[in-house]
Amino acid sequence: MEIKNAAFVISNTRVDNCPSDALPEFAFIGRSNVGKSSLINCLTRHDGLAKTSSKPGKTLLINHFLINKTWYLVDLPGYGYAKVSVGERQKLHRMITDYMLKRENLCNVFVLVDARIPAQPIDLDFMAFLGESGIPFSIVFTKSDGVSQTRLADHLKAYREKLLETWEALPPMFVTSAEKMRGREEILDYIDTILHS
Ligand code: GTP
Ligand code: MG
Repeated sequence: MEIKNAAFVISNTRVDNCPSDALPEFAFIGRSNVGKSSLINCLTRHDGLAKTSSKPGKTLLINHFLINKTWYLVDLPGYGYAKVSVGERQKLHRMITDYMLKRENLCNVFVLVDARIPAQPIDLDFMAFLGESGIPFSIVFTKSDGVSQTRLADHLKAYREKLLETWEALPPMFVTSAEKMRGREEILDYIDTILHS
């Protein structure tokens, strides 16, 4: 699929204020600093469309980007950022879970995990929440440029095994690098398939 048009629409703290046109949307979630905003810029080939930072806690709102004038990519705040107050962290957590549970036009959540490190409990817990809530998701391994092929293969294998302890089937998985534009076509094709299903 070609992205011909990508435009920022609106930022919100509350899901109730998000666009009401019911266009299909795809959201990006994961630990703070995992590379959500960078992946959106990679998919749209639009540097600076979503704001990125080397410091965690950059994205703090629900951000809608209209793609090809017909569907949305949604950049969300990261979870698990340690350096904000407990109150602030709870507020962000509520914003994210509210969005997931209430957004009826949400077609798929991409859960981003760092390809360079083994499975983290916070990511597995979030996937369990999505599964229990009946929200379709896939797993995106990010920053694959920073890990050897062997180590990456080990992490993928361990992830599959871990998930199969509690899941009957595995979600789709994508290996990406925003830096090297890796995995871009695969994710866009996957979105295209969902849009036309
Ligand atoms: P928050 O909004 O704070 O939750 O972070 P985020 O998940 O949106 O991460 P962001 O896209 O801002 O990227 C965080 C850092 O990771 C930045 O310094 C990026 O340059 C870096 N980064 C993102 N993607 C990649 C990648 O594919 N490879 C490498 N090496 N670095 C990356
Ligand atoms: Mg971000």
